[in-house]
Amino acid sequence: MLRTENCGQLRVTDIGRSVQLAGWINRSRDLGGLIFLNLRDRYGLTQVVVEPETTELHELAATLHMEDVLQLEGEVRARPEGQANPAMATGEIEVRVTALKLLNRAKPLPFLIRDDEEISEEARLKYRYLDLRRPRMLHNMQVRHQLSLISRNYLSEQDFIEVETPVLMKSTPEGARDYLVPSRIHPGCFFALPQSPQTYKQLLMVAGLDRYFQIVKCFRDEDLRSDRQPEFTQIDLEMSFVEEEDVFNIVEGLVKRVYREIRQIEIPTPFPRITWEEALQRFGTDKPDLRFGMEIVELSELFQDCGFTLFEQILATGGVIRGIRVPGAAADFSRKKIDALNDYVKHLGVPGVTVIKLTPEGINSSIAKFTGTETLQQVADLLQGEVGDLLILGAGEPPLTAKVLGHLRVKFATELELIDRSRPAITWVINFPMFDYSEEDKRLVAAHHPFTQPDKNELEQGVPLEQLHSRAYDLVIDGYEVAGGSIRISEREMQEKVFELLQISPQEAEAKFGFLLRAFEYGVPPHGGIAFGFDRLVMLLTGETNIKHVIAFPKTNAAYSLMDDAPTTVSQQQLEELHIRTIEPPESGKKE
Ligand code: AMO
Repeated sequence: MLRTENCGQLRVTDIGRSVQLAGWINRSRDLGGLIFLNLRDRYGLTQVVVEPETTELHELAATLHMEDVLQLEGEVRARPEGQANPAMATGEIEVRVTALKLLNRAKPLPFLIRDDEEISEEARLKYRYLDLRRPRMLHNMQVRHQLSLISRNYLSEQDFIEVETPVLMKSTPEGARDYLVPSRIHPGCFFALPQSPQTYKQLLMVAGLDRYFQIVKCFRDEDLRSDRQPEFTQIDLEMSFVEEEDVFNIVEGLVKRVYREIRQIEIPTPFPRITWEEALQRFGTDKPDLRFGMEIVELSELFQDCGFTLFEQILATGGVIRGIRVPGAAADFSRKKIDALNDYVKHLGVPGVTVIKLTPEGINSSIAKFTGTETLQQVADLLQGEVGDLLILGAGEPPLTAKVLGHLRVKFATELELIDRSRPAITWVINFPMFDYSEEDKRLVAAHHPFTQPDKNELEQGVPLEQLHSRAYDLVIDGYEVAGGSIRISEREMQEKVFELLQISPQEAEAKFGFLLRAFEYGVPPHGGIAFGFDRLVMLLTGETNIKHVIAFPKTNAAYSLMDDAPTTVSQQQLEELHIRTIEPPESGKKE
């Protein structure tokens, strides 16, 4: 044994004991002969003292640097009067060193191993093993572990069993682009890495497993952003003989336990539900952040014949005027800020927004000269504006106006620190549309995935396809889509019908999903399920704002690993074995 205790363990009750410790030097100070070292490991820090009388040890200690790895023996003693450090769990004791062994030296570091150090993302990812030594990152890894443990225990108690599904699978489109793996044995053929185990978990229901879960890696070649990585983890589950309420109950129980055990926060159940339409209308997004108000208000009626030609034209062509209230933001909202705001919204695809300031002197807006202040007062009343508030109006086509105001709502709430971060705001979003229209492909695509059950009543009543709803649901926490799922189609005829509506020909359906359609001929239980974005949930539990910070070895936004330089080119021989002959190696291997 290299140590008898870890660096976070010793307390006053250990005073007088002889102990062995091992760890990294977090800090060293030479105070007139006495050398103080803070020894660190995953569990904490312990102060150790090397006295000048221990000549050889003292000489060695004088040569030590940050992050050198040590093993030592010593005696636990109380820190001198007035020198206890309440910020350290071991702060009342120190260890007087009686033997010291340098196990390994560290080179000068690219950055200090401290939470309060500003480090570039590039350095953090390149030297990830050093970044992970920082307490905050260790904590994030710990929370990941806790989340998987709690999920496994909870779901096992609820009769779910964990089943692994293949990582090399058939390419079945699920929204994003596949990562492909060429087959050596079958020239010209490819496996795909799973975007999710969706088809397998449905087949497990056909197989009678009844309740399945898996903590599983998924792979999607899509544009990355702060809550998306090319490989990420899901808590994936599926249940037989269920309807929405059954899935919601299981998920609510899990989320409740997770927040109780990891954050010591009690979440009331059942979780609120909001329809997709209402979410878009009130918050401008299908993942509303409900930790603050500032809801979007419909104002179109007030602006009929208002005298402001632009608004009148927009209304006449099917557009809307909507607004949000930004509490207390009028005072320092200068001309310069209005210009900056208009520049900002251009990136969201609109030419500008209209700003109204409610000042002690009255209503102030560039459109007042057209509309008069009476209309603007009615706007202020509808938005429940008070003196000091800023009102922002968007005008245009309804979905874009909703999106822009939804975006500004979050931007202002964040900047003005109006968000209550003490507890999560959780909601179900339900009644999703069944289909989205893809401008790119000029056809309908599945809004969730093609195995989601459409609202049968609407289908029977002949509701137009663009207005058809599905039995999909999302769980949204603090403005992030943390989980998504649906009640599935469980009849072959219905599945074929949906493929047809998606313009997937019978031949294509057979080639891509024949295995599933065949399984549907052998007795399928009604089933449904959901998958959590594991990394997103850890991000929310730890208060991080990017899922990279909760993944041990993530990729950059350009889907590149800076630490081990992956992906790389491979030898010509490897390519030939895989029957790939036409790849030009990139000029420089490095992609940022
Ligand atoms: P969906 O595609 O909605 O559903 O994914 C489920 C959840 O996974 C998370 N997620 C991601 N997290 C990080 N990086 C990504 N690139 C990424 N993409 C998705 C989100 C999302 O809510 N098979 C269905 C589930 C089902 O129907 O049961 C599915 O995968 O938090």
